[in-house]
Amino acid sequence: MLEKLPDSVSIYEVSPRDGLQNEAKPIPLEGKLELLRALVAAGLTRIELTSFVSPRWVPQLADADELVKVAQLPPSVTVSALVPNAKGFERALAAGLKEIAVFMSASETHNRKNTNKSIQQSLETFEEVVPPARAAGLSVRAYVSTVWGCPYEGDVPIATSLGIAQRLLELGCYQVSLGDTIGVGTPLQTKRIVQAFLAEIPAPQLALHLHDTRGTALANALIGLDLGIRDFDASVSGIGGCPYAPGAAGNLATEDLVYMLDGLGVKTGVDIDKLIEAGVVAEAVVGRRLPGKVHQAGARVLRPA
Ligand code: HMG
Ligand code: MG
Repeated sequence: MLEKLPDSVSIYEVSPRDGLQNEAKPIPLEGKLELLRALVAAGLTRIELTSFVSPRWVPQLADADELVKVAQLPPSVTVSALVPNAKGFERALAAGLKEIAVFMSASETHNRKNTNKSIQQSLETFEEVVPPARAAGLSVRAYVSTVWGCPYEGDVPIATSLGIAQRLLELGCYQVSLGDTIGVGTPLQTKRIVQAFLAEIPAPQLALHLHDTRGTALANALIGLDLGIRDFDASVSGIGGCPYAPGAAGNLATEDLVYMLDGLGVKTGVDIDKLIEAGVVAEAVVGRRLPGKVHQAGARVLRPA
């Protein structure tokens, strides 16, 4: 293991969307912009900023249209947003986004609780979103959630997740991010899942969206890295989870991922010290202590001079 490490990997930062969507207390637009600026200053270049979902389902992100319009970004940074249907796509297009992300679950019950649709209905919805988005010049990413397990149905067959991912790629998505939505994954399971996907889909079209709910996210990321995955989702200070998965908490913290990758000599383009500062901003923005381990402990042991 770890014989052939890559020179670099790409990190897709989800804190402004996946992190904040769960927060009960309304966060002002300026707080969201402050977090975005801190993430950009740390060197993150792929950031999921918000969601064009129903404001009744996710009130915290009801300001998506305005947020995208006022966010000022250097050309090196790409921001994306979740889109659940044609209405969301129209909003994203009007706001001027160049990238969107469609999302669905590999288990029926989670998909219905999250989007009020069956798996088949979600696929049909995205048939009406992804090709027009591509035709309009947008890049489209996709999520398949509950790949490692569903809070309502338990085990999810890998073949089901794989079939959905293949369909989303066929529609024109450039990458599918596989979600351990409730953070139940363990390394051997991750090896089986990643190997099954890599047997059918090239590595650049795959990403891992891991949750640290049970402390296994980094171990699973390492397995993915070793098998050839080069794209990882993360959220500064481990903020967020999925509001419709009972018990879910804590996306993989970006600082924890970058710290591990720095130690492995794998480049991310992210400055760990500035990233830790971004985590401090995130904590101030949400107004409570966040769970990331490097966020809490610092990047290294300080020795007396
Ligand atoms: P629905 O209630 O079935 O929608 O919700 P509908 O199509 O029947 O429309 C009902 C009303 O919502 C209508 O308004 C629509 O116009 C409006 P009304 O006529 O009643 O005034 N509406 C919208 N408004 C704004 N933007 C839209 C939109 N669509 C409809 N895009 C819907 C269906 C999909 C919209 C809803 O279920 C929804 O928004 N769900 C999203 C929930 C969400 O964001 N969950 C968190 C995602 S996190 C996740 O999935 C996991 C992930 O992080 C990866 C991982 O961790 O594993 C990605
Ligand atoms: Mg998540």
